[in-house]
Amino acid sequence: MIRLSKSVVGKKEAEAVAYVIEDIGYLGMGATVGELEHALEDYIGGGFKALCVNSGTAALHLALQAVTKPGDEVLVPSFTFVASYQAITAAGCKPVSCDICPDTLTLDLRDAERRITPRTTAMMPVYYASNCCMADEYQEFARKHNLRLVEDAAHAFGCTCKGRKIGSYGDVVCFSFDGIKNITTGEGGAVFTADEDVIQKVSDARLLGVQKDSEKRYAGKRSWHADVVAQGYRYHMSNIFAAIGLVQLQRFEKEAQRYTELLKDTPHVLLTPMDYVNEITPHIFALQILDGKRAKLEQLLKEHDIQYGIQYAPNHHLTYFKEDVELPVTDKVYSQIISLPMHPELSDEEQDIICNLINTL
Ligand SMILES: Cc1ncc(COP(=O)(O)O)c(C=O)c1O
Repeated sequence: MIRLSKSVVGKKEAEAVAYVIEDIGYLGMGATVGELEHALEDYIGGGFKALCVNSGTAALHLALQAVTKPGDEVLVPSFTFVASYQAITAAGCKPVSCDICPDTLTLDLRDAERRITPRTTAMMPVYYASNCCMADEYQEFARKHNLRLVEDAAHAFGCTCKGRKIGSYGDVVCFSFDGIKNITTGEGGAVFTADEDVIQKVSDARLLGVQKDSEKRYAGKRSWHADVVAQGYRYHMSNIFAAIGLVQLQRFEKEAQRYTELLKDTPHVLLTPMDYVNEITPHIFALQILDGKRAKLEQLLKEHDIQYGIQYAPNHHLTYFKEDVELPVTDKVYSQIISLPMHPELSDEEQDIICNLINTL
């Protein structure tokens, strides 16, 4: 069986976890989380504060809650993992489903602009398949329309836009460190921002709203008499997860460039142009299969015991988020998209088998 994705962890991560268990002896949020935050800040650069939480969804939820108020509308592409939508509604806001650009598969600003109302206060572009090449345009658009910008960079840790690392500039940027992301902490995520108000709100809200508890936790202490002035959640990261993250920061892999080379002239295939050499460290490898051939490819992959993904079912079709909107590019891409296996243990031979199957369509 060829797996779609795989956590890349080993002895070093196991040793780091053992150190937390056997030597530090405190598994909750403590000094190791503070250490990971500093390491993340150093890696990304740019001076933003990193705030670690227990998932990418939690990062998005807390970021949104910090920059919006209940009832606000948030522009978001329907073509995203449902986590983006759940984070918006968890913050009491309304997701406004937008279409995507056919050449980037990320938020279409012309479509988004038409959906702005007096209640629109924020936008959440999603860097689908790590494609963050429009990051600067999203910043410009947010400035122009006076919107808060929460970037869903769950797929884009370590990626750059025109040489600048995602998370080193902008307004509020959220990463996911779940089991198969560019780096993993098992489950986890982080909010990156320079906004002092957001920093304070997110660091309190992740610890049940207990004021200024983070610094004490890093020092192995607690705030027994601190006040609580806002809704909070149990979203903090544990020392165990942080220990895995510290090891993971030293790893990074790339196989997408090879797929691109193998498939660039293949009939019925549409690749999204991305600079895998200089800018993009991809989390998934998604391509479109044209001319109604996707079902046949799905069949072939199943016959050969090769896993694949359909990422993602547009959110405006889901019962909970149903909206009667026309999103023609989103719907077309959904009918054609497929994600191929990609993880560092995928061999060249396995990649060749997959590409040969696509060649037979
Ligand atoms: C686009 C997108 N946003 C948000 C998330 C949420 O991240 P997490 O799974 O860490 O909660 C994911 C996770 O896969 C994602 O793909």
